Amino acid sequence: MFDFKDKIAVVTGGSGGIGLATAKLFLENGAKVVCADLKNPKINLENCRFVEVDVSNFSEIGKCVRNILETEKSIDFLINNAGISQDSPIWKMTEEQWDNVLNVNLKGTFNFIHHVSEHFREKKSGKIVNVSSINGLRGKFGLANYAASKAGLIGLTKTVAKELGKSNVNVNAVAPGLVETELTKNLPEKILENALSETLLGRLAKPEDIANAIIFLCSGFAKHITGEVIKVDGGQYV
Ligand SMILES: NC(=O)c1ccc[n+]([C@@H]2O[C@H](COP(=O)([O-])OP(=O)(O)OC[C@H]3O[C@@H](n4cnc5c(N)ncnc54)[C@H](O)[C@@H]3O)[C@@H](O)[C@H]2O)c1
Repeated sequence: MFDFKDKIAVVTGGSGGIGLATAKLFLENGAKVVCADLKNPKINLENCRFVEVDVSNFSEIGKCVRNILETEKSIDFLINNAGISQDSPIWKMTEEQWDNVLNVNLKGTFNFIHHVSEHFREKKSGKIVNVSSINGLRGKFGLANYAASKAGLIGLTKTVAKELGKSNVNVNAVAPGLVETELTKNLPEKILENALSETLLGRLAKPEDIANAIIFLCSGFAKHITGEVIKVDGGQYV
């Protein structure tokens, strides 16, 4: 559907769930993909390689981006998707739970954008898509750390869109509702049922539903969209 021939996409958290679905969709549309993830899924996908990194480590991500640029010569799309959740009501949330989630979800995205932005500024093009959440927009019981990180991503998205707009770089976010992945598979049945009942379309998202929106934002069809947050939630948060 899209022509991403000769384009290089970097997808963080690309070893599973939404990230892997996004990587596969980029591949189907002709791009080469580098997945940056804590773990290697040990699968073979043509034109795709997996690099093992911790997105929360600033200097490690600097090295990772330099390596990708040396090998691939260019980066066209940066998808900041790596994320974790460690849930607790605020009065029980530990400092460690707070720091872990903020470090991966928010600082991890800063780390990648910081290190890739000079390249995008030099070549005067690039697309960044950050994976936020509807819970960053509305808040959610038990998810203070997660919701704060995802709300933070929205401020980061809008700010970087302002900073990189003149360099012809589009910066957007997607805000999924509940998606059936590893992250959510152990949630209590009641929470899944509640999320389903919140949707207007009567279904929960598959990872591919989110990948479709991410790919659209990287395509020429979205060239005049920047600083935007697109909910992909079946109407869960209207
Ligand atoms: N599943 C949902 O319901 C949902 C809803 C809204 C937003 N999201 C967001 O979508 C993104 C993807 O989530 P998912 O549901 O596919 O989860 P997932 O657990 O299937 O995938 C997340 C990936 O991130 C990787 N990762 C975790 N910590 C990392 C780190 N420090 N460095 C590098 N990689 C790391 C994991 O190894 C994993 O492959 C996350 O940012 C999540 O917050 C998910």
